[in-house]
Amino acid sequence: MTDRSLWLRHEVRSTERRTPIVPDDARRLVEAGVELTVEDSPQRIFPVEAYEAVGARVAEPGSWTSAPPGTVVVGLKELPDRPDELIHRHIFFGHAYKGQPGAAALLGRFAAGGGALLDLEYLVDEQGRRLAAFGFWAGYLGAALAVLHHRGRLTAPLVPTGKDELDETLRPGPGDEDFTSLVVGALGRSGRGARAALGAAGAEPTCWDLAETLDLDRRALLDHDLMVNCVLATTPVPPFVRQEDLDDPARRLRTLSDVTCDVGSPLNVLPVYDRATEWADPVLRLRKEPPLDLIAIDNLPSLLPRESSTDFSAALTPLLLEYGVNAAWWRCLSRFREMCDELGIKEGGFDRELR
Ligand SMILES: NC(=O)c1ccc[n+]([C@@H]2O[C@H](COP(=O)([O-])OP(=O)(O)OC[C@H]3O[C@@H](n4cnc5c(N)ncnc54)[C@H](O)[C@@H]3O)[C@@H](O)[C@H]2O)c1
Repeated sequence: MTDRSLWLRHEVRSTERRTPIVPDDARRLVEAGVELTVEDSPQRIFPVEAYEAVGARVAEPGSWTSAPPGTVVVGLKELPDRPDELIHRHIFFGHAYKGQPGAAALLGRFAAGGGALLDLEYLVDEQGRRLAAFGFWAGYLGAALAVLHHRGRLTAPLVPTGKDELDETLRPGPGDEDFTSLVVGALGRSGRGARAALGAAGAEPTCWDLAETLDLDRRALLDHDLMVNCVLATTPVPPFVRQEDLDDPARRLRTLSDVTCDVGSPLNVLPVYDRATEWADPVLRLRKEPPLDLIAIDNLPSLLPRESSTDFSAALTPLLLEYGVNAAWWRCLSRFREMCDELGIKEGGFDRELR
């Protein structure tokens, strides 16, 4: 990426305090010869002055639209609805490759302008493993919120915090009863995060991954007080919890935290609820007797913006330094083209190079 122009944009979603590039990594990029522009952003967890101090140029929020065409624009979440034609290469989570609503419209904007989406979810190694992800902190938060709720200490609305403050609230206090817990998908990124948070809460979770759910012991699952689901299902498997399990009087399970949050998907392993929960109202009561409460928040890492940004940026920065060289970027571009083809969107003349 040396001799390149990179543009870190402001996030349009006002609750999004994370950033894909933190100031320490901005310094690495600048030192490597990248011309880095950082948009001012009122909610970003790091002030723009911290980027300026390491040599980045500061720009107005949303001004990437008038960046020179060769600029690579980096963000995390959705773009604003305008302009209709996107001329740049954009690196962000497009959420446009799994038939999501608005996918064709977004890819059509790139095709119309000759730009391209390099989707962070598809920035993978040759085995298809994600190279930069927020999973660890999603699992950490998913488990932490479950513990706090289980102990009657979860307050709404949820607000972004720091790990030290969060860990302080997780420490068992006088009167806190022991509980049993289960992490499913325990060997993955979010599974590791969930185990770490449960450890900070003084719990020793049962850990299940693929091998342990092959012949699912649902009775054993329901015998835990608290469960954190962290699986990334790629093929349909029998549901872990069914509607009839909610009515089972012998069920011990009281708190269910679904980090995976695959609500509505055919791969959903927890088809016992039909909507995700939110920061304003994070807990949904699924059954009164015996009680069962659900937490299913789909933007968990945003609750620890500093830590999650720092880890993500550490993974992304070496790849940005190898932009156009590392094969992962070419995989991203191929994926974009495949999706345009699949959706019948004509390649709007974007060039064959990763400019
Ligand atoms: N809620 C949020 O804010 C949030 C944020 C980030 C990621 N996620 C989601 O969390 C999920 C996990 O992400 P990750 O980064 O940890 O993925 P990962 O690939 O690192 O880990 C997934 C784990 O699930 C295991 N697994 C798959 N199928 C299983 C099964 N049938 N039984 C038991 N284990 C199984 C895998 O072996 C792997 O260890 C994804 O669906 C992801 O989209 C949610």
